[in-house]
Amino acid sequence: MRWWKVQNSQAIRSNSNGISLQKAELNRIIGFIDKEVGIQLSASKHTLVEGRLRRRLHQLGYNSYKTYLKFVLDTPEGRHERLHLVDALTTNKTDFFREPVHFKYLVDDALPELMKQNKSSGRRELHVWSAGCSSGEEAYTLAMVLNEALEKSVGIRFNILATDISKSSLDTAKTAVYPEHRIEPVPLSIRKKYLLRSRNPAEALVQMGPNLRDRVRFASLNLMNRNFNLTEKMDVIFCRNVLIYFNTETREKLIQRFEKQLVPGGYLFVGHSESLNGLDTDMRPVSPMVYRKPTGSGIQ
Ligand SMILES: C[S@@+](CC[C@H](N)C(=O)[O-])C[C@H]1O[C@@H](n2cnc3c(N)ncnc32)[C@H](O)[C@@H]1O
Repeated sequence: MRWWKVQNSQAIRSNSNGISLQKAELNRIIGFIDKEVGIQLSASKHTLVEGRLRRRLHQLGYNSYKTYLKFVLDTPEGRHERLHLVDALTTNKTDFFREPVHFKYLVDDALPELMKQNKSSGRRELHVWSAGCSSGEEAYTLAMVLNEALEKSVGIRFNILATDISKSSLDTAKTAVYPEHRIEPVPLSIRKKYLLRSRNPAEALVQMGPNLRDRVRFASLNLMNRNFNLTEKMDVIFCRNVLIYFNTETREKLIQRFEKQLVPGGYLFVGHSESLNGLDTDMRPVSPMVYRKPTGSGIQ
């Protein structure tokens, strides 16, 4: 038994030294990711792409990138594996309370405006969308701050839609279980209210409480789709640290589709390095990296 294990691990090591990603294969991957996800991987990311896919090749028992790509990109059976390929090559870094000034702006400035607007139109529900939500931290942060702000406002409800293209990130988001150190940015007072600690202290895990999980709906959605197919108009869209991976043309089209999806006077929050400067859009800047759709009646 032990002998076989040693044999296997030696085989894998020699594979990992032997397999290398050729330029033509890299170009196929770059073309696929650009078309499918809108992300421009540069040829300088050769080592990164090679490294990220190597483990997957081993898991599936492939000993060349060429045969793996042939299966994934050229056969109908490879369709499901494309999800793993996308997963391996997207960047999913996120945090609770990332760029916290946005959550303060949402509660102190945007929310009163939206509530005023909704009161006059009779709308009782706020629709919020975390687009490119990764493993859910942004969506749950929104749920915590909105619940804190609105729990005493009788009759006003909110719901959050959180979407991403990465299956593994969405799986984590849905279970809502995180290593305890991840919640350091969450203020202590609200940790106690919304988070559950694992009964087994050795695990050092936390889970979002059911009251919060119920407010967030996770779904798979590729932002490159021409039509988002969402029934509800959004009051607020957070799409932060996603646009940075797209070229100007893709970014502009996406912003125009976000604008359509927003109610008049609705807000779009983008990441700190994702200004809409130079893009053809009617969205108006109202605070750093926060934009508002005109109401059509002279709102700046
Ligand atoms: C760096 S994370 C940002 C997460 C979160 N918004 C934040 O700011 O912390 C970028 C996310 O965008 C997602 N993404 C990239 N391209 C996408 C696309 N075409 N459609 C949907 N999601 C996409 C990735 O899977 C990843 O989870």
